Amino acid sequence: MITNDIDLCIEALTKGDVVAFPTETVFGLGARADSPLAVKKIFDLKQRPNDHPLILHCANIDVALAVSPHVPDYARVLAANFWPGPMTLIFKRGVNDAISDEAVGGHSSVGIRVPSHETARRLLEPCSFFVAAPSANKFGRVSPTTAHHVYEEFGDEILILDGEPSQCGLESTIISCLEESPEILRPGAITEKEILNATGLEPIKSENKVVVSGSLEKHYQPDIPLITFNNVNELNEISLDKSKAAYIGLAETDYSFSMKLVVSTYDQYAHEMYNFFREAEKNNCETIVAQCPINEGIGIAINDRLTKASKK
Ligand code: TXA
Ligand code: MG
Repeated sequence: MITNDIDLCIEALTKGDVVAFPTETVFGLGARADSPLAVKKIFDLKQRPNDHPLILHCANIDVALAVSPHVPDYARVLAANFWPGPMTLIFKRGVNDAISDEAVGGHSSVGIRVPSHETARRLLEPCSFFVAAPSANKFGRVSPTTAHHVYEEFGDEILILDGEPSQCGLESTIISCLEESPEILRPGAITEKEILNATGLEPIKSENKVVVSGSLEKHYQPDIPLITFNNVNELNEISLDKSKAAYIGLAETDYSFSMKLVVSTYDQYAHEMYNFFREAEKNNCETIVAQCPINEGIGIAINDRLTKASKK
């Protein structure tokens, strides 16, 4: 059920139920992190493997940083610069009753984020517990950026807190703070350059060495095939019935696609991409054709998702 009743959602979370809620990245599927039973409901709903850790969410930066006894100085700098916002930090886990083993998939690390979305903050502020939340989609599927997308995934099985669609539209930048320098595990709206500028440290680029669902080769997939290209000239060589395909990209094209979305900025691309994938599915398009942006800024995160979504 989609609701605007925030008190009802806080009550549901408190008693151990699952509540989906908006954040500036994508919508999350939340449950209290200190309750194994509540957390299990998330894994069951998502059909997600039990050893894939969940990100914890809270409203307060100091509370977030107190989640671990091992917080390096550069992580405090990152928190001061980019929280509240689309960034998740991974720390070594200490002894902490507020975090169940189930929430972190039995790992010895913990991921935490302080979101900026106004509705998320209103939900999290009164909570005396961390809210563990993966993206509110079935495992491997496209992340939701509106309450309606979540409804499409889970229907009336859960409470869905309504709110402004996710402004950013791509999942958070995940930064491991386990080493001497920050290590980017998943690119997002907070870019490598911003991390370098804030901390003075060159981020380590991870080669998928950590097993997390967002770093699996195949992920974030629409139900129909996705083909990527760089330059519009390449469209001549892609043999498919364009009248049954959906096009998203930065360049104009004269081909008459069944659906066409020409975006003017990378931010707009990120904001609209997942919604476009879902619309293409609903309109029974046979294929999605997507232009890869240049690999810089948030273009890196868009390309990361396009690569995973197009993997066969
Ligand atoms: O923007 C986001 O991050 C959204 C919103 C709801 O916060 N959440 C999200 O969650 O994308 P999820 O579960 O779909 O993706 C989170 C990724 C997963 O790949 C998970 O394995 C990884 O973060 N992760 C969480 N905790 C971790 C940890 N302790 N160590 C390594 N990876 C972790
Ligand atoms: Mg996800």
